[in-house]
Amino acid sequence: MRALSIDDGTLTIVERATPLPESGKVLVAVAGAGLNGADMMQRRGLYPAPPGWPEDVPGLEFSGTIEAIGPDVTGWSIGDRVMGIVGGGAQATHVITDATTLMRVPESVDLVTAGGFPEAFTTAYDAIVNQGFLLPGERLLVTGAAGGVGTAAIQIGRLLGAQVTACVRDLSRRDDLIALGAASVVDPDGVIDVGPFDVVIELVGAQSLTNGVLRSLAEFARVVVIGVGGGAKAEVNLLGLMASRATITGSTLRARDVEEKSQIAAAMADRLIPALANGDIIIPVVARYGLDQAEAAYGRFVEGAKFGKIILQV
Ligand SMILES: NC(=O)c1ccc[n+]([C@@H]2O[C@H](COP(=O)([O-])OP(=O)(O)OC[C@H]3O[C@@H](n4cnc5c(N)ncnc54)[C@H](OP(=O)(O)O)[C@@H]3O)[C@@H](O)[C@H]2O)c1
Repeated sequence: MRALSIDDGTLTIVERATPLPESGKVLVAVAGAGLNGADMMQRRGLYPAPPGWPEDVPGLEFSGTIEAIGPDVTGWSIGDRVMGIVGGGAQATHVITDATTLMRVPESVDLVTAGGFPEAFTTAYDAIVNQGFLLPGERLLVTGAAGGVGTAAIQIGRLLGAQVTACVRDLSRRDDLIALGAASVVDPDGVIDVGPFDVVIELVGAQSLTNGVLRSLAEFARVVVIGVGGGAKAEVNLLGLMASRATITGSTLRARDVEEKSQIAAAMADRLIPALANGDIIIPVVARYGLDQAEAAYGRFVEGAKFGKIILQV
């Protein structure tokens, strides 16, 4: 197999022996692998893979077809079109993963494009449903809304019956965000004018929290911090928090155990995959690059100003 490898910050393509799946695992021939902020951090030596995952091969999500099946796997066959999240190693021609964490790629969805679904939509789904406890009719604010997780969160919020506000730096994205399901689109300075919110998916971090989010919370609001590109340390007015009886929580996905990842995959198979199959949910893609164009793909990711996902086509 061929894999992208991070060697002291440099991206190279390496040849490796293709592994055989052990009990409960499958070998997937990768078709698409979405890029994520975590890959950029891993490249800079700031986000090592959790134990048990390839140390030098980045990639938290993939789509592809099952090429080999280990013992004790039920429900999957060779050739099945699948996608899923992994702790690392997805940016390669092959990846080994736990069969219970797989999701099926609907026939109506392009297989390479599906490589941009798992990480963004799993993160957004878990944040909104399992951490934010969003109820139908509630007011949901998504900050950093034009990126991979943001465009997923808008669509999931709309699907679950929320009134969604998208917060972005570049308001020229308004029409695209409204097409995904945002009821209103604001820039960071406009958040206070359109609040309060019951649930906030905070994808930017400290800068956004202190700029307006913490002053825009409804009673019993839940703020779920998922990204800290805009700073990890914020000054919080605790009196304001007491008055609103709000909760601030945070979450990461990568280091979770197989059982938790399997549970989320099963919930998404029930609640999101049918919507993906019938086109009610889409995977916005900025650009695709070949595996050997990884340098350009990573460069495009850090440039920012994206609408949706960048995908390595393997
Ligand atoms: N906790 C987890 O398990 C988990 C999982 C996945 C992702 N994440 C994190 O969640 C965040 C979003 O992920 P993603 O995949 O959606 O990333 P992305 O595609 O790069 O999107 C990030 C978005 O945030 C905006 N943004 C960045 N800095 C900003 C700032 N200072 N003020 C306002 N907007 C800002 C960007 O706007 P511009 O286009 O204007 O640059 C972009 O639209 C990242 O920090 C990522 O590392 C966490």
